[in-house]
Amino acid sequence: MLTGKAVLITGGTGSFGQGFVRSVLARYKPARLVVFSRDEQKQYEMRARFSGAPMEYVLGDVRDYETVRRAFEGMSVIVHAAALKQVEAAEQNPQEAIKTNINGSANVVTAAAACRIQRVIEISTDKAVHPVNIYGATKFVADKIFVSAGFSVARLGNFSSRGSVVPYFRRLAAEGAAELPVTDARMTRFWLTLTQAVEFVLACLERMKGGEIFVPRVPSVRTVDIAKAAGPSLKVKIVGIRPGERLHEILLSAQESARALAFTGYYVVPPVVGASDYSTDAAGERGVPVKEPFEYSSETNDRFLTAADLRKQEDFI
Ligand SMILES: NC(=O)c1ccc[n+]([C@@H]2O[C@H](COP(=O)([O-])OP(=O)(O)OC[C@H]3O[C@@H](n4cnc5c(N)ncnc54)[C@H](OP(=O)(O)O)[C@@H]3O)[C@@H](O)[C@H]2O)c1
Repeated sequence: MLTGKAVLITGGTGSFGQGFVRSVLARYKPARLVVFSRDEQKQYEMRARFSGAPMEYVLGDVRDYETVRRAFEGMSVIVHAAALKQVEAAEQNPQEAIKTNINGSANVVTAAAACRIQRVIEISTDKAVHPVNIYGATKFVADKIFVSAGFSVARLGNFSSRGSVVPYFRRLAAEGAAELPVTDARMTRFWLTLTQAVEFVLACLERMKGGEIFVPRVPSVRTVDIAKAAGPSLKVKIVGIRPGERLHEILLSAQESARALAFTGYYVVPPVVGASDYSTDAAGERGVPVKEPFEYSSETNDRFLTAADLRKQEDFI
């Protein structure tokens, strides 16, 4: 599907971006594969990691419309993964989160429309559903900007990534900590591996009609089980919930579920306004309307992974 295409990923040096590039190079022969991000050091390190791969690197900030538009010229697929995504940092620097996550997303959408790019998808988060923090609120607006322009959104739960709790726990364990800090024993999260997150987005690129939000049907984990998986011999210390955090996440609100279509392994939320028919996917599967509106929450999910399940995942970093 990406063979012969010119593909650009904003935030390509991030955790998702590098996983995406690895899968694209393994499965397709894109005509061009472009990484767009700000920091030259991360690009330098990525060049070394992907040495010999047929890729291009563009330094630029999504806040700068002209740079984004120039980078998008001649592209056929855009994956927008660039974001400020640390909940606490966004709480403390709301205007920075607004500039990158909202204004930057608006620039991506305007440039993609100006360059007549057909396949454009934003990587979003469960924190954008009924947002309670600045990060979630800015991603909520970004999603609306994408959907209203007829572009698509892949809304993901947590995946093990740079700066996430898993490498943090691993580092504490390696440094000889006696206990791992968990904010609340009741806390739950949706959980995907990085590979699953990338596979899901690749499938969305194939299925997209434009204007829809894709929501994967994934298991939940208890954060205490993440700690047990990262440091099996360590005690768990409950340290209290942090600013902007919530106990459980929601991938699909009750309002969205009322118009959602259920497919094997994922939901599609059509836009509130829009004429496309979303009932059949690229593989020919027919989606079934969700009969009873429900909230798809990490707390009430019918599938939970245990610490042992997490340890078995190959990219549990
Ligand atoms: N990690 C998760 O669990 C998770 C879950 C759901 C959704 N998501 C979403 O998935 C996407 C990727 O997340 P991630 O975990 O891969 O994040 P990450 O590792 O922090 O990577 C973020 C990327 O964005 C780039 N970036 C940041 N600000 C930028 C700007 N103003 N202009 C251009 N590039 C910029 C960064 O590079 P530079 O700093 O060099 O610019 C980096 O390449 C985000 O949109 C996030 O909201 C993540």
